[in-house]
Amino acid sequence: MKKDLSNIKKAKYLLNKNHCVAIPTETVYGLAANAYSSKATLRIFKLKKRPKTNPLIVHYSKMQDLERDCEINNNFKKLYSKFCPGPLTFVLKLKRKSKISRNVTNGKRTLAVRFPKNLITKNLLSSLDYPLAAPSANIYTQLSPISKRDVKEEFGKKIKFILDGGSSEIGLESTIISLVNNPKILRLGSIDVKKISKILKKKIKYSKSKKISVPGQSKFHYSPGIPIRLNASNRFLDEALILIKKRKNFDRDYFYLTKNQNLKEAGRKLYKTLRRIKNLKYKKIAIEKIPNIGIGQTINDRLKRASKR
Ligand code: TXA
Ligand code: MG
Repeated sequence: MKKDLSNIKKAKYLLNKNHCVAIPTETVYGLAANAYSSKATLRIFKLKKRPKTNPLIVHYSKMQDLERDCEINNNFKKLYSKFCPGPLTFVLKLKRKSKISRNVTNGKRTLAVRFPKNLITKNLLSSLDYPLAAPSANIYTQLSPISKRDVKEEFGKKIKFILDGGSSEIGLESTIISLVNNPKILRLGSIDVKKISKILKKKIKYSKSKKISVPGQSKFHYSPGIPIRLNASNRFLDEALILIKKRKNFDRDYFYLTKNQNLKEAGRKLYKTLRRIKNLKYKKIAIEKIPNIGIGQTINDRLKRASKR
């Protein structure tokens, strides 16, 4: 705890000086910077090699702070009270008087916002007088990091500090819902869309609309950098095989996300396993069919994009 406090202090010191700091969240680690500063947010794009047309998510610790920057509505309040803090990102209308840097939104009049649950990051956020813009802490199109070690692997010494918060509990990026007009899901995450529909008393759809550019929606993303073959039942000689159900035989080229089809566990281990296989220098990956239900849909969404070349 004492260590956490001194780490938070260090993160705060660097953020106040417009540097980027990696932060833990329950979904994946983020590469954070002062969302009100153009100098700080520009550094995020440079470090990630991310196109500036791709807007950032801004992280808050309290609803009151968000109200300085965004218009909130009833749908937001309903979902906020049910899911926040947690793995849900809202796209809302940006207020004219908001201090959010134009780099964050790429000049758009909407803003993606999230209230992370991780305690260390929550404490950091409430000690700052600005919110934190933070995309996933990976190089553009690569695998998202779920631990301090993963972030180090992505950026090496290029970032000054990684706030350690252990492994991300969920391991998949947040669900994104736009509440600007009719609510629609822009990116699948760990929250069941049916639950959201129930709370809003309306059937909410996952929209793959091309008009809204969500790179989670771009074709090639979340990639370990080697080919992935989906719906495989066995491995070819040069492949690592990812499984979700225990097999009788032992094979050192088998990698389990879960041994009993626990999809939550599979989601948590997905990026970690892909990263491990890549680091073991396999040339190819094969993966068993994942049931397309609940969080399985999100896993399949990420795998589909990761397998595009
Ligand atoms: O779980 C998460 O959401 C993690 C943690 C760190 O919070 N963050 C994350 O950020 O996944 P990123 O940048 O990797 O993905 C955010 C997505 C991007 O695809 C971006 O295009 C989209 O959100 N986005 C940001 N602002 C938007 C906006 N105003 N309208 C629509 N999409 C937006
Ligand atoms: Mg990302």
